[in-house]
Amino acid sequence: MANILILYSTTDGHTVEICKRIKRTVESRGDNVQLLDLKDGPELVSGTFDKIVIGASIRYGKHQPLVNDFIAKNQAVLEAHPNALFSVNVVARKPEKNQPETNPYLQKFLKKISWQPQLLDVFAGRIDYPSLGFVDKHMIRFIMWMTKGPTDPNAVVEFTDWDRVEAFAQKIAGM
Ligand SMILES: Cc1cc2nc3c(=O)[nH]c(=O)nc-3n(C[C@H](O)[C@H](O)[C@H](O)COP(=O)(O)O)c2cc1C
Repeated sequence: MANILILYSTTDGHTVEICKRIKRTVESRGDNVQLLDLKDGPELVSGTFDKIVIGASIRYGKHQPLVNDFIAKNQAVLEAHPNALFSVNVVARKPEKNQPETNPYLQKFLKKISWQPQLLDVFAGRIDYPSLGFVDKHMIRFIMWMTKGPTDPNAVVEFTDWDRVEAFAQKIAGM
């Protein structure tokens, strides 16, 4: 039985939902998963976990800076364990941008860090227009209009391919 740590960075909670799905799948295979929010400043101690996963969402073109900071501070510990990274963004709803190699945010992020995760993925996220404040709502509607996405201000649209999340979870379990 492996102890797996999943660290996440989220603004509106969708990355946590993805983490919970990964946890359920991995735990159904007999392993243990702990989820921790990077915002709470977790300390990573080598040897406490058997595998480490980081999941982070994109907001206005970037993962939150605390993700980069955490990776820079803990790179040696990450590299001492089987490790994985996934990004959540809505550009990944487009088939030509939904692979780690073709997703511009993930590619840009990988160029900025020197950690090379053993397993990578990118998942399309969720847009919940009614929950957004005025500025964010209209910024996202504008971006969606430019990129031929949904613009109905009352819409809640989930683009996530949950089968793909499951497949990623199976890979983590098998790492
Ligand atoms: C204010 C705002 C800005 C966003 N900016 C981007 C962006 O620049 N590129 C992108 O692909 N997705 C963007 N998204 C989509 C988010 O990545 C998506 O909603 C994701 O599911 C958010 O995950 P979270 O709830 O874990 O933070 C944005 C969403 C919001 C609400």
